[in-house]
Amino acid sequence: MKTDKCVEIVRQDEKVLSPSSRMPYFPLVIKRGHGAVLEDMDGNEYIDLLSSAGALNTGHSHPKVVEAVIKQVQDFIHYTPVYTYHEPLVKLANRLTDISPGKFKKRVAFGLSGSDANDGMIKLARAYTGRSKIISFIQSYHGSTYGAISLSALSLNMRKKIGPLLPDIHHIPYPDCYRCMFGKKVENCRLECLKQLEIAFEHYIPAEEVAAVIMEPIAGDAGLVVPPQKYVDSLYRLCKENGILFVSEEVQQGFGRTGRWFGIEHFNIVPDALVLGKSIASGMPMSAIVAREDIMQSWQAPVHVFTTAGSPVSCVAALATIEVILEENLLEHTRELGEYAMERFNRLKDKHELIGQVRGLGLSVGVDLVKDRDTKEKNGEAAAKICYRCWEKGVVLTFFAGNVLRVQPPLVISRQQMDKAIDIIEEAIVEYTAGEIPDKVLEIAKGW
Ligand SMILES: Cc1ncc(COP(=O)(O)O)c(C=O)c1O
Repeated sequence: MKTDKCVEIVRQDEKVLSPSSRMPYFPLVIKRGHGAVLEDMDGNEYIDLLSSAGALNTGHSHPKVVEAVIKQVQDFIHYTPVYTYHEPLVKLANRLTDISPGKFKKRVAFGLSGSDANDGMIKLARAYTGRSKIISFIQSYHGSTYGAISLSALSLNMRKKIGPLLPDIHHIPYPDCYRCMFGKKVENCRLECLKQLEIAFEHYIPAEEVAAVIMEPIAGDAGLVVPPQKYVDSLYRLCKENGILFVSEEVQQGFGRTGRWFGIEHFNIVPDALVLGKSIASGMPMSAIVAREDIMQSWQAPVHVFTTAGSPVSCVAALATIEVILEENLLEHTRELGEYAMERFNRLKDKHELIGQVRGLGLSVGVDLVKDRDTKEKNGEAAAKICYRCWEKGVVLTFFAGNVLRVQPPLVISRQQMDKAIDIIEEAIVEYTAGEIPDKVLEIAKGW
């Protein structure tokens, strides 16, 4: 494998870029991409199982998205919707209210990244309810603006030395049935994790001061943890009983990733608001909050204004993204291929002790690597080495939560490509188990 040009660019990058924002896995320098395939600067090709951290559900440079973007940049690139109007913005807002759950009237607020949408959601929930407290989850990741960091509770490096963070954001355990914090099994679970919130409501967090619960329908960066239905039902009920908004944070799981438009639809819950980002515009910068009209009417400009938000280029990309998902039946494809991939990974689990659990929904699949199936101790070294070896063999694969292989390919990936990628993952597992992946790759493959 030739990597000279890539390595040289990485060397230059290391000298000039801030260390604040890169978590390296391998020296991949991208030259181009089409569908689910990437090509690097040295001409090597890769099957992409990362989709730019879930931001490219329609795949790389989908012709329909490219065509819409080119046409729009030729007409005009941007004029801020803060002072003027443009048609793609209105069309997109209407499409988003159509495809999001709930048959009530909704409105949309646009931004540029999932992080700012989460900040906006905190502001909106406080404005609407007149309450200050927000409930979020331990191990959640919601972005890196101050509000989004305050909402997140994943990594100390995100929070060290930068305080004070936003006050009155409280974190509760996410329902993780594989590694239950309370030592319970599915059979004897009494939702002890939710009990923590009930205890808080009894003793130190007045429920009537809570504005919103902001929850991912699958906890992405926690390692794709899928909550049990009974947890979501009970939490939703608790919110409704106490006048608390239930917000589904769909930045990573939305826009078809789980085989439905939005992850929360798997749980038959109609949230009061959605937070969107990443794949909404196929890689063009865009985020959105979609909320019930009465909620959205409770804040006034300029509380959530960004000069380049709602850019017409991002709007036409988002409109094309929605068309592609519909025309190419990507929701159905994602459900079918996701099930197939889960089956294949489960077969690998039968053969390889290293795999503790396979979980997920649609094409959001996590493969949890353990040192021991009984203790479930995380195997971070295996995850790093396997991802590195996969890269050497032509598959872009990363891990999160320290040890969980993150399988989130573009939804346009074919079954053949998926098969090839899983075959390569198995080869890497076998080579790891045989001790054939050297320790020195750990100096490069750091991940989260
Ligand atoms: C669930 C979730 N929310 C929010 C964000 C932040 O989005 P952005 O990086 O676009 O600001 C991310 C990014 O990884 C995410 O996974």
